[in-house]
Amino acid sequence: GAGAGWSTSALVAGSASADSASGSASGSVAAPTVIAPSPGAETVPPEGNHQPGVVTPPQAHLALVGWDLHEDATVEHLARMMRLLSDDARRLGQGEGALADTEPELAAHPSRLTVTFGFGPRVLRDLVPASRRPALAELPEFSRDRLRPEWGQSDVVAQICCDDPLTLAHARRMLVKDARAFADVRWIQQGFRNARGTLSQGTTMRNLMGQVDGTVNLAEAEPDFAPLVWADGTSGPEAFAGGTFLVVRRIRMQLERWDRVDRVGREAVVGRRLDTGAPLTGEAEFDEPDFEATDRFGFPVIDPASHIARVRHTTPEERFLRRSYNYTEPDDTRSSGEDSGLLFLAFAADPARQFVPVQQRMDEVDRLNDWIVTIGSAVYAVPPAAAEGGYVGQALLE
Ligand code: HEM
Repeated sequence: GAGAGWSTSALVAGSASADSASGSASGSVAAPTVIAPSPGAETVPPEGNHQPGVVTPPQAHLALVGWDLHEDATVEHLARMMRLLSDDARRLGQGEGALADTEPELAAHPSRLTVTFGFGPRVLRDLVPASRRPALAELPEFSRDRLRPEWGQSDVVAQICCDDPLTLAHARRMLVKDARAFADVRWIQQGFRNARGTLSQGTTMRNLMGQVDGTVNLAEAEPDFAPLVWADGTSGPEAFAGGTFLVVRRIRMQLERWDRVDRVGREAVVGRRLDTGAPLTGEAEFDEPDFEATDRFGFPVIDPASHIARVRHTTPEERFLRRSYNYTEPDDTRSSGEDSGLLFLAFAADPARQFVPVQQRMDEVDRLNDWIVTIGSAVYAVPPAAAEGGYVGQALLE
């Protein structure tokens, strides 16, 4: 058929160019010999008692699924759901089909798939006994938030991350399918970074405003990382040791206004250069910003109202792991035709002490606020990893 004809001619064309490149005139079709292992085969190794998808270098694609448990759901229902979903996550992460997967072929290229589960405040309050309940406070109200219920708090969340969008779509469908008997999907939030391979490893991502975003962040190698990210079982329940908390903020960018601001203005808003991500007082991305430096008129080079001046930690505690993704969805109710922004994801051992003061400062003053608006917000307790043969959340529920 037409398909076979096309592939034959493609092969011939390919061999012709290979031949001319090597100077051979034989005209024979060389069979491919060595097939390099594809990045699609890569799996994420277990993280001890931590769920994957937190310290994992961010994969290219994200699907965040928020579920609300059915009205009459009991702790037994949630336990059954988590047992099923944990099993799916484990298999899919290894490149195997989920249980009763009708399309296991779609799981064959795990592409660093990770699934990270979390429980919302209502689940903790109603289904987790007080002695095992991690202390998760809902976020206070922030004056500039314009929260929409459709992006609000859910009972359960799965942060599904993968370098391949097809593998991700399949994993997402399997999880949603297996949760159906227990919970309704409240929202699905999709996000992305650069495709795998586009940038050399370790390059900081850019957000849709064009800024280098993620320069100053916690690194796993720092001694402070563990106490700032992982719950340790001394200040909280033992059953939650190795867990963490996730803050989700859906922040829309007003790109159709942002692109009217000149470059100097856009750099002043953040306090960093757009090209390199360097602070306005430095040369290179990772140079320390100098908040004291003044220009020849005596004005600070980095505006005290700029984003980095406002959100920089004022105590060693005010730090957390940012693991955000870009999002863009068609939206025909807006003149730009799109709803775009940042799915701001932050992991912290204690959001109330680490995240809230920073968000509060930002809410008071931050030049970035002229161009962004938070339309969704939620928090979750992310339990430790499933024990051997167990499921995520088991130590809290049983
Ligand atoms: C830094 C963008 C929201 C906390 C930065 C930087 C950019 C940026 C470009 C500088 C590069 C870097 O160090 O990563 C944005 C955009 C946002 C947003 C476009 C919304 C759409 C937030 C929110 C928070 C936050 C909601 C927390 C409340 C931080 C922190 C830093 C930072 C802690 C590092 C500051 C430092 O110590 O230098 N952000 N950000 N950002 N942002 Fe944001």
